[in-house]
Amino acid sequence: MTFKTLDDLGNLSGRRALVRVDLNVPMDGSRVTDTTRIDRVLPTIRELADKGARVVLLAHFGRPKGAVVPQMSLAPVAAALSDRLGRPVAFAADCIGAAAASVIDGLKDGDVALLENTRFHAGEEKNDGAFADALAALGDIYVNDAFSAAHRAHASTEGLARRLPAYAGRTMQAELEALASALTTPVRPVLAVVGGAKVSSKIDLLENLVKKVDLLVIGGGMANTFLAAKGVSVGKSLCEHDLADTARRIMDAAAAAGCEIVLPVDAVVAREFKAGAASETVAVDAVPEDAMILDVGPASVANVAAKIDAAATLVWNGPLGAFEIEPFDIATVAAARHAAGRSSNGSLTSVAGGGDTVAALNHAGVADDFTYVSTAGGAFLEWLEGKVLPGVVALEN
Ligand code: 3PG
Ligand code: MG
Repeated sequence: MTFKTLDDLGNLSGRRALVRVDLNVPMDGSRVTDTTRIDRVLPTIRELADKGARVVLLAHFGRPKGAVVPQMSLAPVAAALSDRLGRPVAFAADCIGAAAASVIDGLKDGDVALLENTRFHAGEEKNDGAFADALAALGDIYVNDAFSAAHRAHASTEGLARRLPAYAGRTMQAELEALASALTTPVRPVLAVVGGAKVSSKIDLLENLVKKVDLLVIGGGMANTFLAAKGVSVGKSLCEHDLADTARRIMDAAAAAGCEIVLPVDAVVAREFKAGAASETVAVDAVPEDAMILDVGPASVANVAAKIDAAATLVWNGPLGAFEIEPFDIATVAAARHAAGRSSNGSLTSVAGGGDTVAALNHAGVADDFTYVSTAGGAFLEWLEGKVLPGVVALEN
């Protein structure tokens, strides 16, 4: 796909750039607890401001469903953004109409404003034409830097791109380029590591991946469903027994496509799901009836490491074990560090994403060593599922 980027923009003096960003950040009361998403959009804001644009930011926060919910105001986020940006950020109490227009009229070239939560208007999620027109009236060009909201066909992510000259921001561009290098035009062999609790939430993902990648490592609770489908007894482990047919269908599709599926060969089991629970390592076909699998074992980690060594490209979504409670983070941390080492010495292109995955890589201390870590949750998954993202399609030339 081809789309315009900030490289296609010259001097923007006197022009209003409407920029869709994702500022859906974690908050504790009115304090932002993780500024990752804010930090990701700073380059685009700075570049547009430095080109002389009057930068007008559009964003959603939470799911107020068309009502004005004061706890979902973006006002505290404007303050955090100003802090990270090192420049003032004006705030408008509405994203359309007179309140927005008067703040924007007060901007000088290079100034930045954030408008209130777009989802305070029902027209946002409905992608309502009149609402999109009201937004479009506030700008001369549109820049979308919110890949993580691009799976939504909303007025600020889709409708606007059809009303104003549209450009991908730097983060959107980096995300699309990273995803293309992982699955569209990858250097082979391509390895996917997919973990997490449930097969049911990742059926579309697995079905698409087996068609695209050479190797698929399955870990986490979802591996239990595959093991059970092969007749292995998984004791009291989390397992979706009703998805045995689905698991077999995915394994058949993989075989037909020439994709090797790699399941755990050993497991760390415990009787309780809690930090520090007594645990032991067993072969996957020797899980005691009263025990549950909480992590993959060291032989499985060695297998994953060997597959990583043989791969040129890695796509990672989901932890290998219950990484949020120690010591069941061991396999995820070890595999993540192995992939990070191969990435930082240039032998591996590694792309990771999804909420838990980012948390797991941060926990392992290696997020910075991966080639690209997406801050998108749903959008990253939908892209890996092979789905069309309305916010991305609308940017296409
Ligand atoms: C996210 O946090 O995943 C994005 O901001 C999208 O939010 P949504 O799932 O409420 O559309
Ligand atoms: Mg979400």
